[in-house]
Amino acid sequence: MKKASVFPEYRGNMEYYCLGCGKRFGIDELLYTCPECGGVFMLDNLDFKKLSERTGKEWRELFDTRAASKNTALRGIFRFYELMAPVLEEEDIVYLGEGNTPIIEANDHLAEKAGLRFAFKNDGQNPSASFKDRGMACAFSYLKALVRKHGWDEVLTVCASTGDTSAAAALYASYIGSPLKSVVLLPHGKVTPQQLSQPLGSGATVLEIPGVFDDCMKVVENLAENYRVALLNSKNSWRILGQESYAFEVAQWCDWDLKGKCVFVPVGNAGNITAVMGGFLKLHRLGIISELPRVFGVQSHHADPVYQYYSVEDPAKRVYKPVTVTPSVAQAAMIGNPVSFPRVKHFAEQFEAIGGKGSFQVLQVTEQSIMDSMIEANMNGHIACTQGGECYAGLKRAKELGLIAEDEFAILDATAHALKFSGFQDMYFSNSFPPQFGVQPDTALANAPELVIEESAKAELAPEAFTEAAAKTIADKLGLQSK
Ligand code: F0G
Repeated sequence: MKKASVFPEYRGNMEYYCLGCGKRFGIDELLYTCPECGGVFMLDNLDFKKLSERTGKEWRELFDTRAASKNTALRGIFRFYELMAPVLEEEDIVYLGEGNTPIIEANDHLAEKAGLRFAFKNDGQNPSASFKDRGMACAFSYLKALVRKHGWDEVLTVCASTGDTSAAAALYASYIGSPLKSVVLLPHGKVTPQQLSQPLGSGATVLEIPGVFDDCMKVVENLAENYRVALLNSKNSWRILGQESYAFEVAQWCDWDLKGKCVFVPVGNAGNITAVMGGFLKLHRLGIISELPRVFGVQSHHADPVYQYYSVEDPAKRVYKPVTVTPSVAQAAMIGNPVSFPRVKHFAEQFEAIGGKGSFQVLQVTEQSIMDSMIEANMNGHIACTQGGECYAGLKRAKELGLIAEDEFAILDATAHALKFSGFQDMYFSNSFPPQFGVQPDTALANAPELVIEESAKAELAPEAFTEAAAKTIADKLGLQSK
C-alpha cells in the first residue's frame, strides 16, 4: 500500500451527468444545469470501478492512516480524495481547516430525555462555522484548477444564501484572492446579524433584495445563465462532492460499522442530504461499509416541501410541489423550492433499494419543538444552531412515531455554530418571538445577565472598596457560606 502521507497518484475520469435527461458533459467548463433540458447535474467518476482494486479493508486502513497525515492537502476533507474529486492536483487544493469536526455524545441526562443514545456532529466547528465549508473547499479547489488551466484574469463568484453559503463562499474567495472576487445575494432582513457580518468581514460585495431565499436563487440562476459568473450554490455539483465528506467522517467515527446507526439531517435546499446519502452509497459500493445507516431528513412545518412529498405513502401518487415558506427559527433551511430535490429522489431510491423501507425518511417538526430542542441540547453542553435543534426535534419525533428503537444510535447534524443563531435564543429567553413563529418559550429556562452594581455606585467607590462591595453583593445573592 502507498504511504498515506503522500498525495495520491490515482486520477479519476469525471463527467457531469444530467439527472433529467441522462446526457453527459465534460468538466472543462463550469456547468450548473443541463444545457439540453435544464435538469440538475451530478458528477460521475467513470473510473470509479478501478477503486475496487483495493478491498474495503485496505481502504479503511488507508483512510485511518491518513487521519494522521502531515500533508496539508490531505488534512481536511481530501483525506477521502479518491472518493470525491480525484481530478484535482495537490497544488489546487485549498485547505482552511474544514472537516474533521467532532462528534459529541449526549450526556446521560439528555440521552434519557430523548429515550436513546445519540450524538451531535458539530459542523459549526468548521472555519466559517457551518458545514458549507466542506463543499466550498471542493468547489474552490476545482475553480482554482480551472483558473490555472484557462488563465482567466477575473472570476466573479456568486451565490444566493440564507447566510451560511455566503459566509463560506466569501471566506474561501478572500483566501485565494485574485483573480477571484466574491459577490453574495441575500434576502434582506432574513439572515442573522452574525451571518451578515461574515461576508462583509471577508471583503465580499454583499447585495440584498426583498423576499426570501427562493427569490435570491432565481436571480443568481438568471445571472449564471446570462453572464460570465461562477455559481457557488449547491446547484454547483462540486459542492455536493465536498459535502460527501460528512458521511465519510461519520462512518470513520463509527469505526466503519453503521449497523443500528441513524443519521439526522436538516433539509433546506437539499444539497446536504443529497451529499450525505451519496457519500454513504459510495462507501457501500466499495465495500468500505457493509451496511448503510438509516437517514432521516427533518423539516419545519413552515418550510416542508420534501416532507410533503414523502408524506404520501404510495410512491406512484407522490407529487412534488414547492411551498410558500413562513418565518422559521430554522431560518437557514427556510426554503420552499429546494434545487436539489431531484437529487434527493435519485439517492432515496438507491438507499431504499439497498437498505429497504425505512432506510430513508423525512420528518416534519414544529417551530416550538425546534426551539425547545435547541435550548435543551445547549443547556446540556452542546453548541447546536437552530437547524441542529431541528435535528434533535426530529429525533424526538421519530421516537414518538415509533420509527426509531431504543437500541439504535443517532448522529445529528449540528450544521452551524449556535452563535450564528443567538438572536433566536435571545427571543426565547425574553419571550419576544413575533407571532408568525408561533413559539411560546418555557419561561422557566429564561436566562439573562444581571448587573450587580450600578455604574453610578461604582463611581462613588475607591477601586478596592468596589471589588469588596461587588464580591459581597454576589456572595449575598448566591447565599455563599463564609470560609
Ligand atoms: N443548516 C444550515 C446551518 C444551513 O445554512 C443550511 C442551508 C441548511 C441547514 C440546509 O442545508 O440547503 O443543504 O438542505 N443553507 C443554505 C445557505 C441554503 O444559503 O446558507 P441544505
